[in-house]
Amino acid sequence: MQYLDLLPNAERQEILALLQEKERWLGLGKKGVERFRLPFERVKHIRAQHCDFSGDAVIIGGADELSEPDAAKVYKTLRDFMPWRKGPFDIFGISVDAEWRSERKWNRVLPELPDLRDKIVADIGCNNGYYMFRMAQHDPKLVIGFEPYLQHYFAFKTLNTFAGIGNLAAELLGVEHMTLFPNCFDVVFLMGILYHRSSPVDVLRDIRAAMSPEGVLIVESQGIPGNESLALFPEHRYAKVPGTYFVPTGACLANWLSRAGFADVEIFYSHPMSSEEQRQTEWMVFESYEDFIDKSDSALTVEGYPAPIRIFAKVKNSA
Ligand SMILES: C[S@@+](CC[C@H](N)C(=O)[O-])C[C@H]1O[C@@H](n2cnc3c(N)ncnc32)[C@H](O)[C@@H]1O
Repeated sequence: MQYLDLLPNAERQEILALLQEKERWLGLGKKGVERFRLPFERVKHIRAQHCDFSGDAVIIGGADELSEPDAAKVYKTLRDFMPWRKGPFDIFGISVDAEWRSERKWNRVLPELPDLRDKIVADIGCNNGYYMFRMAQHDPKLVIGFEPYLQHYFAFKTLNTFAGIGNLAAELLGVEHMTLFPNCFDVVFLMGILYHRSSPVDVLRDIRAAMSPEGVLIVESQGIPGNESLALFPEHRYAKVPGTYFVPTGACLANWLSRAGFADVEIFYSHPMSSEEQRQTEWMVFESYEDFIDKSDSALTVEGYPAPIRIFAKVKNSA
């Protein structure tokens, strides 16, 4: 964890102890771990000669770079990481069309993207690292991805073993570990997370404490339409997704951010969700957006709640 040298304020001993414990657990040979660790082990000797993170698809390696046996191993490993939620990727010529068209979200963030050059960045809930690779294009000093799920963690580890981008790192940590990183991050991305937390304002306060005084936070959240400061609290599921707590209007999200102490709160984009942006593909064969929405009224979820919109906000730690 050499990058901890770049974070003088981090709770170094606690973080190291936590990561060592995770490392020990990964080595126990548990079935749920091996399912994703072994696909990584199969291809960890492979390096890409050519990468390009400037376009919609994150390109790692060209089709002509691998022997036939290695190409077959890469294909099998990528299939073992299904379902692919975020993308698109082009890995040694294999086009991975993920459930989400993540380039659309990134293109909405781009006009508001803080300067990342030489900055310390956190991507909370980084999934397979699609956005981290897109961030790498902007020369950050370091991007740490927080991602507690093994499938996504090993998918990122595999992709970045191919790509070899030294200033990107992902850890099996969650947003709940931000308190171990006081005053550490110049830029934080919190995208697709807030509505999964039962105390969203506490999460925002913890993130604020993890930011440098000049820090900038980009938030993207599922939301509901409306101008009042209200949040929907679904009885069980929202759009078939369990573990959804508060789903805010844009005004409510802005209010949460202000009340968590952030300054210069700006809602810079919002749009309705659509089945063009989140859909079943060859790399994600399960139900997707169109199955979550009322077939006879696209303004409602299958539970009868208002159909989701997505809301984007940018805030500063202090004025
Ligand atoms: C809806 S996805 C959003 C992914 C990506 N940030 C985006 O905007 O497309 C939520 C991500 O958060 C991860 N996650 C789950 N629990 C988390 C936690 N406690 N802290 C941080 N991330 C978590 C999930 O595994 C998943 O990758």
